[in-house]
Amino acid sequence: MTTTSAENTRPTPVTVLGLGPMGRAIASAFLDARHPVTVWNRTPGRAGDLPGRGAAEAGSVHDAVLAGQVIIVCLLDYDAVRATLEHAPADWANRRLINLTSGEPAQARRMSQSAAARGIDYLDGAILTPTPAMGTPAAAVLLSGARDVYESVQGTMAAVGAAPLYLGDDPGRASAYEIALLDVFATSVSGIVHAFALASAEGIEPERFAAFATGIGGLLPELITRFAQQLQSGRFPGDRSTIASAASGIAHVISTAAGHGIDVGVLAAAKSITDQAIADGCGPDGLARLATVLHKTGRV
Ligand SMILES: NC(=O)c1ccc[n+]([C@@H]2O[C@H](COP(=O)([O-])OP(=O)(O)OC[C@H]3O[C@@H](n4cnc5c(N)ncnc54)[C@H](OP(=O)(O)O)[C@@H]3O)[C@@H](O)[C@H]2O)c1
Repeated sequence: MTTTSAENTRPTPVTVLGLGPMGRAIASAFLDARHPVTVWNRTPGRAGDLPGRGAAEAGSVHDAVLAGQVIIVCLLDYDAVRATLEHAPADWANRRLINLTSGEPAQARRMSQSAAARGIDYLDGAILTPTPAMGTPAAAVLLSGARDVYESVQGTMAAVGAAPLYLGDDPGRASAYEIALLDVFATSVSGIVHAFALASAEGIEPERFAAFATGIGGLLPELITRFAQQLQSGRFPGDRSTIASAASGIAHVISTAAGHGIDVGVLAAAKSITDQAIADGCGPDGLARLATVLHKTGRV
């Protein structure tokens, strides 16, 4: 079903299942946008100031779903979503389910299939921004799944901030972006804390080290853009730096960290990727080439 944009911007009864920090932030954004909001949480008493601002607290998942037309579920994981939706009513006519719980692309696709089997219009989503961004133009929400379902909730979902970005009819697509971006975050944080540990072992104070480390961070946007261009074109010039040179640098870090008794597991994994690339004859190539060493079957 496709609705017009005028219909989309009407107040829409919204239900939010899950009142962790993100569920509360989402419910708050819908209240700010003057949509009628019903909330439910497994553990009672976690609604904060939402009831005082006009949100209705449902006593059961069943009642919460019946109260809404757009049902947002935002829980710890997909097991929690499944357990929660077992208590939902059978009748989902005129209701759409939007799952903003983090998970894996395969989980999103399975959830979409089981929703379809229950006659539920379903979108899967990913939130890329922290709770303070919700309801502001800085919010970034990705959605994927059936286009007509997306079009029917597009206006309502604008309440979470900037217009949600629709990524097509594969329900796993939003999650695929989220998981790859989480990869960036997880490995970056791991590198940052390791570097602080190594600097500290060398007697460098954290704040003095941070002044230089933020400079490295500042190089990353240009590097990411350049890597993307090289991966698209399939050309990896080693004119700025080479994999062979990076491998040598990583070896120095490993040796120094190990000498201080600091775990080198993550760096050893990075070294083994560069070693594999060198064994494949890619030592003179630029560093973006490493993505093709990690994933040999596709273009990347
Ligand atoms: N917080 C952020 O900044 C942020 C940013 C982007 C994405 N996200 C994603 O948003 C989702 C929610 O995150 P969050 O920060 O709100 O908190 P969370 O700690 O990930 O999830 C807490 C919520 O999950 C519920 N829950 C856990 N197990 C459950 C179960 N078996 N059955 C029913 N409910 C269950 C909790 O209920 P109880 O209160 O009863 O325990 C609570 O409502 C996550 O997938 C997270 O990755 C969060």
